[in-house]
Amino acid sequence: MMTSKEIRKQFLNFFKSKDHTIVPSAPAVPQDDPTLMFTNAGMNQFKDVFLGHGSRKYTRAADTQKCIRVSGKHNDLEEVGRDGYHHTFFEMLGNWSFGDYYKKEAMTWAWELLTQVFKLDKERLYITVYKTDDQAMELWKGISGFGEDRILRFDEKDNFWEMGEVGPCGPCSEIHYDRTPDKSGAKLVNADHEDVIEIWNLVFIQHNRKQDGSLEDLPAKHIDTGMGFERLTSIIQNTKTNYDTDIFLPILNKVAQLSGVPYQQGPEGTPHRVIADHIRMITFSIADGALPSNVGRGYVVRRVLRRAARFGRMIGLDDAFLYKLLETLCELYGETFPELPGQLDFIRQVIKSEESSFKKNLDRGILLFDEFAKDLKKGGIISGVDAFKLYDTYGFPVDMTNQMAEERGFTIDMKAYQTELEAAKERSRETVGTVTADWVILKESDNAPFLGYDHTETEVEIARYRPTGEEDEEQRDIYQVMLTQTPFYAESGGQVGDCGTINAESFTLRVLDTQKIDGQNVSLAVIISGEISGGEAQAQVDSTKRDRTKKNHSATHLMHQALKDVLGDHVQQKGSMVSPELYRFDFSHFEGMTAEQIRLVETKVNEKIQANYQLVTEVLPIEEAKAKGAQALFGEKYGDKVRVVSMGDYSMELCGGTHVKATGDIGLFKILSEGSISAGIRRIEGVTGMGAFNYINQQEDLVKDISAALKCPAEETPERVSSLQEKYKALVKEKDQLRDKLLTYNADEMIQSAETYSNEIYNNIKIICKLIEGTSAEALKNLAHCLRPKMGSAVVVLATEAKGKANVVVAVSDDLVDRGIKSGAIINPVARIVGGGGGGHPRLAQAGGKDPSKLAEAIQAAPGIVKEQLG
Ligand code: ALA
Repeated sequence: MMTSKEIRKQFLNFFKSKDHTIVPSAPAVPQDDPTLMFTNAGMNQFKDVFLGHGSRKYTRAADTQKCIRVSGKHNDLEEVGRDGYHHTFFEMLGNWSFGDYYKKEAMTWAWELLTQVFKLDKERLYITVYKTDDQAMELWKGISGFGEDRILRFDEKDNFWEMGEVGPCGPCSEIHYDRTPDKSGAKLVNADHEDVIEIWNLVFIQHNRKQDGSLEDLPAKHIDTGMGFERLTSIIQNTKTNYDTDIFLPILNKVAQLSGVPYQQGPEGTPHRVIADHIRMITFSIADGALPSNVGRGYVVRRVLRRAARFGRMIGLDDAFLYKLLETLCELYGETFPELPGQLDFIRQVIKSEESSFKKNLDRGILLFDEFAKDLKKGGIISGVDAFKLYDTYGFPVDMTNQMAEERGFTIDMKAYQTELEAAKERSRETVGTVTADWVILKESDNAPFLGYDHTETEVEIARYRPTGEEDEEQRDIYQVMLTQTPFYAESGGQVGDCGTINAESFTLRVLDTQKIDGQNVSLAVIISGEISGGEAQAQVDSTKRDRTKKNHSATHLMHQALKDVLGDHVQQKGSMVSPELYRFDFSHFEGMTAEQIRLVETKVNEKIQANYQLVTEVLPIEEAKAKGAQALFGEKYGDKVRVVSMGDYSMELCGGTHVKATGDIGLFKILSEGSISAGIRRIEGVTGMGAFNYINQQEDLVKDISAALKCPAEETPERVSSLQEKYKALVKEKDQLRDKLLTYNADEMIQSAETYSNEIYNNIKIICKLIEGTSAEALKNLAHCLRPKMGSAVVVLATEAKGKANVVVAVSDDLVDRGIKSGAIINPVARIVGGGGGGHPRLAQAGGKDPSKLAEAIQAAPGIVKEQLG
């Protein structure tokens, strides 16, 4: 059976042989396309090329793309678990032409791959074309030899593919596979039937769907294809559903093992299937940067995770368990998607804590649901108020509640639910910027102005506060505090939030952190003394920390430009984090940086620090800022007015963070590490200012320690180390030679203690069989040579493990050789035991084997083998 890993590889190799560049999958969470919640097709990463806005170095590409279809135009969530071929997450195998080949080649290759490489039965294939695409019809007739009974025409719904509400699109042609036992599936094509499923879609991209719904022609014509990897595997492995392939079985088995409930193909297996499906979506979303939350794609991840958790409970998995499936996923995917093993611990933590915190609510919610449902008869309706209550109080996503209802033959009044939801949103809009209303309000105030660009100390008043229910390390209650105006920077744009103090006559607060919550600046604080009250207070930012953070932040701007200078203009910022301790900067680049490139970036940044450029900040309309050439982050949403931070003529970026007054303030810049965090994304971490100075001191101390240990000046240490290494090697060699020589001194004793053997033919033959530890194949042979002249009528079998391999030597004395005993005949059965073979002269033969763990067994068997030869 061809494994799924082989199928993936064959697909890519096939297109490689047709001059396609094999590219990595784009992240499942798009970095730079606000029209998309998740990557829903292989072509997403090439959207700019199709639209004529971007280009690539190649005109043909192929890959396997991580896709998620749980929202927007392509949403398969409801299908999952009910049928065997829809998934929230799947891999799409695809090939592309960017204004290069067109319909004919795309069709020919698709047909060749399916029928000749994967050897699918043509009698099980159907082809569909767009109703007016006569050209595709005629091409297919020639390529497949099919007539119009197997090449079917369909309309827009099935044969015009669009990426989303807007974006590239065009007529398409699909290949479907018929799994009916008697190949009678013609009527089931495009009928949503499990027996006849679409496997490959070839899209002829020609248009762009615009916001107003109209189509415009693209500058060039392109090919975009997508084949469902799981479906293809199921067909090639001849399984009933995708879940019975080697892609899903290991996960299903793990679910069975954890729950003690065996997997079954029918409806009883739905929980296993849903969990196996959902865990892939959850894991890859988190790996690619989506975290469970209450909004946007974060809420989709949360919803899917909660669904999976509930299905787990149906088979007795009452505690958090999803994270336990990650090892299995890593085994399945680690090679193809290295971002998964690379972040395993992080993903495990996120899933575990998210699931654990939902579990308590799950049980209570289920009880409440039972309460709502207890008087309902089949066909009954759960009210919108009840469904909303489950959502609002226990976090039950409505699709999950809906599913629970369906399982019992009920429905939910969705319209009423929506009304409840809207009303709740309206209520929360009324309570200024907050979701719940348990604030203690001391002064009406909204959107406290941020004064921290110019001041680290200001007069403030506390506008409102409330307990968070959490405590700091010293078990003091942590409060959320909103001020009338504030010098504290709230974490955003990668810069951590400020700490500091708020002092008034009747209280002192320590600010531990500052965050943006619902768009408002909120400080998290504990009470050091007194009680919080209204009136005048003094807020003071911890300026040591702020200063260090500023240095790190300004340095990342310089480094962003330096990376472009050194690596090329493709470098895009993908994320950043600046704190008092260090800076972290993620950017797009396809390979590791060399030591020279890293040094060059450091040099450039330090030169700009020396140049001591004044920092200039301006607030400009976004269009004006972009026209001036300010770097904006791809995919980041900006308001109409933006803050532009410039450093000389070297760097100009849109940024809301706090910065040094002049680049010289940064002092010194060092890179500590550079590495990959996911396909095509690198991460640099480093330090500035005193942090860099301390780092250099540590390095210097290290060199001093080394030079003291080596008893030579620092400059001479490299030479000293290599001369020591050489001496060491020579000593090891000498030691081995002595060891081997020593072995030969044992020869006499070995002969003395040998077993003697006689039978009808031979008299008093010595049999010496010995496993010798810690020697070499060469020494073994020498020992045999050394034994032969002294041993009289004898057979010797010696064995040792060297360099991870088994070695065996057999020697036979001359008189026995003359009587027909051959070393080769003895060594072969012995060597077979250690997984090898060998041969040589009748007097002396040598063999190797790959399984040294069997050496003892081989030596034990040796006397028997020798005796057999002696008759
Ligand atoms: N983009 C096409 C699809 O997703 C190939 O079906």
